[in-house]
Amino acid sequence: MRIDQVLRSATATLSGAGVASPAVDAELLLAHASGRELGDLRRARILGEELPEETRTAYLELVERRRRRVPLQHLTGSAHFGGVDLHVGPGVFVPRPETEVLVGLALRALDGREGPTVVDLCTGSGAIALAVARARPDARVGAVELSEEAHAYASRNVEAAGSGVELRLGRAQDAFGDWLGQVDVVTSNPPYIPPDAVPIDVEVREHDPSLALYGGGEDGLTVPVEVAARAAELLRPGGVLLMEHADVQGEALPALLAAQGAWREVEDHRDLAGLPRVTRAVRA
Ligand SMILES: C[S@@+](CC[C@H](N)C(=O)[O-])C[C@H]1O[C@@H](n2cnc3c(N)ncnc32)[C@H](O)[C@@H]1O
Repeated sequence: MRIDQVLRSATATLSGAGVASPAVDAELLLAHASGRELGDLRRARILGEELPEETRTAYLELVERRRRRVPLQHLTGSAHFGGVDLHVGPGVFVPRPETEVLVGLALRALDGREGPTVVDLCTGSGAIALAVARARPDARVGAVELSEEAHAYASRNVEAAGSGVELRLGRAQDAFGDWLGQVDVVTSNPPYIPPDAVPIDVEVREHDPSLALYGGGEDGLTVPVEVAARAAELLRPGGVLLMEHADVQGEALPALLAAQGAWREVEDHRDLAGLPRVTRAVRA
């Protein structure tokens, strides 16, 4: 069967299953199954190339799993974030494009600071820490993760990147006790979903670990507020906290941070879709 026919059929299958971007997913899965670059695959499609039967069989298995809403990144085993290719899979949160807004704000906060120290609390796959380390090779970057499974992914990613990120296993709330008052920027995309806001997307609801999703308390902000309190202990005066939150928490999180009494210039930033997404606060 020709590549074009195979892709059309897979796209229709995924579209019928409610996959958000069926054509893109169909292409990326075929690139993965055939071990080819996307550009190469597109050329082959235009030229009317046939797909070897063996590749087609492997591909159809992947399409069937994607039809059952297994996340694309679990099937390919990788996610691209902030210029870094990360190994991901079951047991770790798949990094989201909207979190790159937080990375951009962190890099801006690092402007003019030489050899800065950065800590990423609740690091998951290590996405934010590795994106910052890639952009600022002069930085000392630390990262902490509570889940052993997620930590194992982060450990592999840190090693693959050769970034020198200092990765630790444990609670963000008491992490890096030996770096107190020394940190220039704290980044965090903690769990923040309220208990009654169970995600609609099957990929998120059934495949992202619940430890990565639910922030505790009625508003989902128990863990974020505790993490912010630790950030206040880690940061030097003038240091900056950048914390992601749900779009409905753009007023609640800044208010809770302001109430901690450790911060000045508490402000909220929107993501590329125009939704409230990241709170920025400066250590008083
Ligand atoms: C929303 S995910 C974000 C992961 C990563 N920062 C990213 O943006 O892709 C939150 C992460 O926090 C971890 N986590 C939850 N509670 C934690 C805690 N108390 N201390 C450290 N990590 C925690 C979860 O296991 C999960 O990996």
